[in-house]
Amino acid sequence: MTLENIKLDVDYVRSQFPAFKDPLSKDWSFFENAGGSYVPNNVIDKLTEFMTSTKVQPYAEYPMSKIAGENMDRATELFAKMINAKKNEIIIGGSTSINLYVLSNALKKFLNVGDDVIVTNQDHEANISPWRKLKDVGANIVEWKFNINNQELELSELEKLITTKTKILAVTHCSNIVGSVNNLKAICDIAHKNNIIVIGDGVSYAPHGFPDVKELGVDFYTFSLYKTYGPHLGLLYGKEEILKDLPNQNHEFLNGQYPYTINPGGPNHEELVSLIGIYDYFENLYSHHFESDNLNILEKIKKINDLISTHEEYIANPILDYISNRKDFKLIGKSSIKNKNRAPTISFVSKNKSSKEISKLLIKDKIATRNDNFYAWRCLKHLGIDTDDGVVRLSMVHYNNISDSNKILNSLDKF
Ligand SMILES: Cc1ncc(COP(=O)(O)O)c(C=O)c1O
Repeated sequence: MTLENIKLDVDYVRSQFPAFKDPLSKDWSFFENAGGSYVPNNVIDKLTEFMTSTKVQPYAEYPMSKIAGENMDRATELFAKMINAKKNEIIIGGSTSINLYVLSNALKKFLNVGDDVIVTNQDHEANISPWRKLKDVGANIVEWKFNINNQELELSELEKLITTKTKILAVTHCSNIVGSVNNLKAICDIAHKNNIIVIGDGVSYAPHGFPDVKELGVDFYTFSLYKTYGPHLGLLYGKEEILKDLPNQNHEFLNGQYPYTINPGGPNHEELVSLIGIYDYFENLYSHHFESDNLNILEKIKKINDLISTHEEYIANPILDYISNRKDFKLIGKSSIKNKNRAPTISFVSKNKSSKEISKLLIKDKIATRNDNFYAWRCLKHLGIDTDDGVVRLSMVHYNNISDSNKILNSLDKF
């Protein structure tokens, strides 16, 4: 079998997620993945194992404690390898929102009064508000607005905004509403020519394939582990050369012990250890689909990412096609996925019905979705959409199947 012929075995994938067998959820098509994903058995197993035998204070010499500490370190190390970072470039915190507030506080160190900070109006508020608040220390906030006609952030616009005073740029890798994948590598290239620090929000990108942070060249990158098949935690990557210059925001005596010093208080221990289960799940996916075992984790992740993208295109394009052709619907973002240029996060509004009405109709058909602004309220405002009623969002990941897509099409076709 050639590589091109290998398709994601979605039945195998679904067999790994107990939610598809659970009496409460098994009959539902789940389209709220951009809100938070289901977890595979491996994650639940690691969580149970930790809580059963090693739920003690870690890093002492007795076995329960020693193993707890070793597993916490292992979880961080594995995630570092999966995204091509070093272990001391990874900070695991309570959520992306917390991580970005903590980071913005630390980056004040690099700002002088009158320096520019660029934020977008396409991002989730988690990657806007912490940076906008830097005006309290004298920063000048500049907004990179997306093009209202195609909903894209354009590089030519960014170039017009950059001055010698620009120090920080916060931008999403993929919007949780528009779904387009922004060219973060090109954005970083432009920014770095101007000595600007780039913070990429990967929350809506990472569930569709873990990023290679070195290839992107980004200075900081965040994603929410509860949307990448894990527990409610957030991962923050930071380039070591910047991290080591950040102020100690933890206890005074810990001076110099980065990245531990960036985030006051560490993550939830049992949830941290359960991240090993995400790694185990991806290892299982790899060995189920591929024979050769002489690749490193990063190489395996890249091959799985390709399988996932091809599958997501297959299940999402019929829905994008349907919604973009309905005269009474307005689709936000690109009308098809090609070569990973879009996530299967599909937002739309109707001319005749409120988004709430539509989501209720879908729920009647056992389609789990919702209407909201999803905290990307600046994006909705720019598009002239009521931020209370919001958009209907259908967000898929690799465990969705073509039956889910057909179910949506049949349900939408009834009204
Ligand atoms: C694109 C995006 N960025 C950031 C966040 C915030 O993540 P968290 O809930 O981990 O704070 C979300 C949450 O939905 C999101 O969709």
